[in-house]
Amino acid sequence: MRECLWMSDIVLLETGLELPVKGEIAYFNYFWLRDSCPTSWDSSTQERTFDILEEPDDLCPSAVKLNDDVLEIVWSDGHQSCYELNWLRRWFKGENHGDLAIRTRKPWYSDHYSDMARFTYEDVVTNPASVANWAQAMLDEGVALIQGMPDLDEGLQTLCELFGTVRPSFSGYVFDVKSKANPENLAYTSKALELHTDLPAEELAPGIQFLHCRVNDAEGGNSLFVDATAVANVLKENYPSYFRILTEYEVPYRYTTGCQDVRTKQRIIELDPNNGEVSGINYSQHLADVFDFPQREMDSFYPAFRKFGKMLQDPQYLMNFRLNAGECIVFDNHRIAHGRAAFIEGSGERHLRGCYVDRGELRSTYRVLRARYPKMEEIPSTQAY
Ligand code: OGA
Ligand code: ZN
Repeated sequence: MRECLWMSDIVLLETGLELPVKGEIAYFNYFWLRDSCPTSWDSSTQERTFDILEEPDDLCPSAVKLNDDVLEIVWSDGHQSCYELNWLRRWFKGENHGDLAIRTRKPWYSDHYSDMARFTYEDVVTNPASVANWAQAMLDEGVALIQGMPDLDEGLQTLCELFGTVRPSFSGYVFDVKSKANPENLAYTSKALELHTDLPAEELAPGIQFLHCRVNDAEGGNSLFVDATAVANVLKENYPSYFRILTEYEVPYRYTTGCQDVRTKQRIIELDPNNGEVSGINYSQHLADVFDFPQREMDSFYPAFRKFGKMLQDPQYLMNFRLNAGECIVFDNHRIAHGRAAFIEGSGERHLRGCYVDRGELRSTYRVLRARYPKMEEIPSTQAY
């Protein structure tokens, strides 16, 4: 056991040191300190170039000192590290990275249509501060409407690329929702599409979905949108055992065409591993395969599944509106369940063109743009790493 050394207010222990930070005694591990030294990062790429594996097992400081609000450490190999106490305090307090993109979700209900965030295509393609506001609405509410879209295939791609690269799915880079002969899925008929999230049969279901309405002259076919995380939270409150079941069981999903057989298992309610909050759902009765849990467990699974499914359809949660030509609805495919009412075949043309971007790209865009275009109440993190 290494002896305890006192240097001014700092106590050097075997595996780390203690020092007073803003009136509290904070402990920091030596490997973490050395690894997190501001010199560990390449100044142009911001990637870590320091290799903690090269350090000795008994890594420890040879000298430490508090200089105003800076902790200075000289390591046994002579390397010098400086850490601002304000920065150290953040880690001691568990504030971690101060990620701008971790925001509190604002639940919404059936009356959300008039409040839904709206932007014009012209505005977002010319004004990055508006893209920051749009991305913020996506993080907070999970849905936004872009109006004034050009009637061109490129319009959708340009819009998507404001958030990130188009992410292919097993339908390719884009998909066209139109009623057609020999449809490979229900979406390509005039039938109602029950509430669902897209493509839970993929290992990582798509994150952000764009649906650009090119034509909507058909009779019927209203859009149905629900904040499924808000509904899952009501389930948690009122039916905790049902909620637990839907966060635990892995449900099989499957999508098949003549040349594809895509399968995976997903939890119906997803929890954020960082804070245990509901972060999304994977829900599609069209793509759910035969449930394969032991039959006795079906006794408790089905009541939970049916209760949640019925709650999603409850008119108090359901936003029901008509998507018009020239509008693109953009939504978080893990948070929002969506569907459509049936339309009358032959009553008029209906065409939506869709594609996806990963949620990570949305968060990345938001971090970069919000740091550049801060809102008064949202001061970005000043730490470079
Ligand atoms: C889909 C879908 C919505 C619509 O194709 O998965 O949800 O309004 N379409 O047709
Ligand atoms: Zn869909």
